[in-house]
Amino acid sequence: MHLEHRSTGVFALRICRTAVPFGAQRPGREGRRGNTLAVVSPTDERTEATTLPLLHRVSAVRRDTTTDEDWRSLERRLDTEFPRLERLFRDIYGDGPEAVEQLTLLTIDAANSWQDRSADLKAIDSRRAATPDWFQSNRMLGGVCYVDLYAGDLSGIRSRIPYFRELGLTYLHLMPLFLAPAENSDGGYAVSSYRAVNPALGTMAELAALTAELRENGISLVVDFIFNHTSDEHEWARKALAGDPEHEAFYWIFPDREMPDAYEQTVREIFPDDHPGSFVRLDDGRWVWTTFHSFQWDLNYRNPAVFRAMAAEMLFLANQGVDVLRMDAVAFIWKELGTSCENLPQAHWLIQAFNAVCRIAAPSLLFKSEAIVHPDQVVEYIDEKECQLSYNPLQMALIWSSLATRDVRMLSQALDRRHEIAPGTAWVNYVRSHDDIGWTFADEDVAELGINGSEHRRFLNAFFVNRFEGSFARGVPFQDNPRTGDCRISGTTASLAGLEAHDPQAIDRVLLAHSIILSTGGIPLLYLGDEVGQLNDYGYLDVPAHADDSRWVGRPKYPADAYSHRNDPTTDAGAIFTRLRRLIDTRASTTEFAGGRLVPFDAKNDHVLGYQRPGRNGGSAVVVLANFADTAERVAALTLSGLPAVALDLVTGTRLLLSGGLLLAPHQFVWLRVE
Ligand code: GLC
Ligand code: GLC
Repeated sequence: MHLEHRSTGVFALRICRTAVPFGAQRPGREGRRGNTLAVVSPTDERTEATTLPLLHRVSAVRRDTTTDEDWRSLERRLDTEFPRLERLFRDIYGDGPEAVEQLTLLTIDAANSWQDRSADLKAIDSRRAATPDWFQSNRMLGGVCYVDLYAGDLSGIRSRIPYFRELGLTYLHLMPLFLAPAENSDGGYAVSSYRAVNPALGTMAELAALTAELRENGISLVVDFIFNHTSDEHEWARKALAGDPEHEAFYWIFPDREMPDAYEQTVREIFPDDHPGSFVRLDDGRWVWTTFHSFQWDLNYRNPAVFRAMAAEMLFLANQGVDVLRMDAVAFIWKELGTSCENLPQAHWLIQAFNAVCRIAAPSLLFKSEAIVHPDQVVEYIDEKECQLSYNPLQMALIWSSLATRDVRMLSQALDRRHEIAPGTAWVNYVRSHDDIGWTFADEDVAELGINGSEHRRFLNAFFVNRFEGSFARGVPFQDNPRTGDCRISGTTASLAGLEAHDPQAIDRVLLAHSIILSTGGIPLLYLGDEVGQLNDYGYLDVPAHADDSRWVGRPKYPADAYSHRNDPTTDAGAIFTRLRRLIDTRASTTEFAGGRLVPFDAKNDHVLGYQRPGRNGGSAVVVLANFADTAERVAALTLSGLPAVALDLVTGTRLLLSGGLLLAPHQFVWLRVE
């Protein structure tokens, strides 16, 4: 009773107990920027004038069918989250009438969306509120695939659920499956409508049914929220092209080159193979901002109507039952003349504002950040109040760097100083994604090791595209830009690790790479098909829409043959799959691997990576030692002298004598439980 009538809540007070006169609250110490709407000075007429109608307008959308309890739960969340949303909105958009109106409409949308949300999803909201660390479990395992390439369509994905269970998946990222241009859609990253599934893949009703079925099987669904841009076929873009001023204001459209030239002074080229610079010319002579492909138009978040429109799309997806949104291309969403237009403060505020909207209307929905940028900037997106999950592009890149150099110092340094992230958040660790591998390590970090960053990048690019004597890798260059020297790498895990080149150590490298993502802490994410050693697919060269985008080499069709041999360890597919399955099982029963805490362990050998996973409850720990060399490597007795004389290696299930030091076979790794 007492809790339900918390006297601090604006919404609870204003909507339930409208008898309390506005302004009866004590003025906030922080004044206008105070942390709740009630905490404003009663003399601040602007806020009073705009707040009161907002509260009335929100309460006016309460439906007859909404129970008191359900409405009160919404009010409680508004009490905690609306002040944050309001502050962010003001910081981004100021407090002019248009901004205030959009905020009001946004809040009304959120209240409606909550009332649309199914009872099942509300039950999940409550369950996850009670177990907020559910995604930190050592049982979490992610997989990612394209619906069409992996299973034909959504019903094909349903039929693969038994396999997902066999593998141990708890998190499935389906690559963009929305309506998109037929010919080239950047693999679905050019969205024409978030309300429709690409008809070749299925329907929105099937997607909603799939989320429920996956959930019954212990699997959360992840889809992309591609909010930096839409396709040029999106209704908003079509209207903008036709000259509708409301929708022109959704994009960055300029009549001539003056502003594009000014912005391009400081903006980096992302897809130079597609078009130079960041703008493309429309048929009518105007210029539109397209960071990625010419058919992906950047949205203009300086317009609060854009924020509100995209928030509505986000809530629509949330109500289909999606558990996690992969926030695509977060770095690019705010533009400011004279800057790189990447990672600007407003980009963070916008994501935080989306986060606040979710907390109000779809409280269990999580965000995963896709920021493939400098590590200092990657972490800035990671926060309970921004993105609770984030790709770990540094660890990914440095796994490959270590395999190429057989030297673990860069990876070890990254684990020491860049692994720890905010409480209540987790890394998504991966060996490779559907995209290129970019060498996003910090030059200043590696300089401390005596390594020159640009030279090392040049080496890695040469090594991974087999332009380096003795390389085992068969990658393909992506966006090779001779003008800037920039280049990235495409390819499947097996091809990059040497399987395509018939290198005898390839399979061991594939396992070693995966052992790192399975043991450092966070959600390991497999690119499905890599667990059976799929090789590069050069067929993309024959598809006109793909031929110029080498990332397609790493996106083969479902490797049916390899999967059929997965339980036969005498085949490459089976050797990888059976060993990986064992690691996955071991991880799932090793609670020390829950959470993200990692303590360095210096193996005192540049080829051997070491770290400890202390677990969350103290007591035991797992010490990991991983040999990245092609030769056997020794960890000295003295180095291990702090550990017990004998320890269980969880990888093989055997007890190892540590007192005499440890000899690791080429690419061998051990997970030592020490009590
Ligand atoms: C992300 C996607 C990539 C896409 C780009 C534009 O980086 O991962 O595949 O090309 O965004 O949407
Ligand atoms: C991403 C990255 C870029 C990457 C590209 C697509 O957002 O920032 O480095 O190569 O999009 O693959």
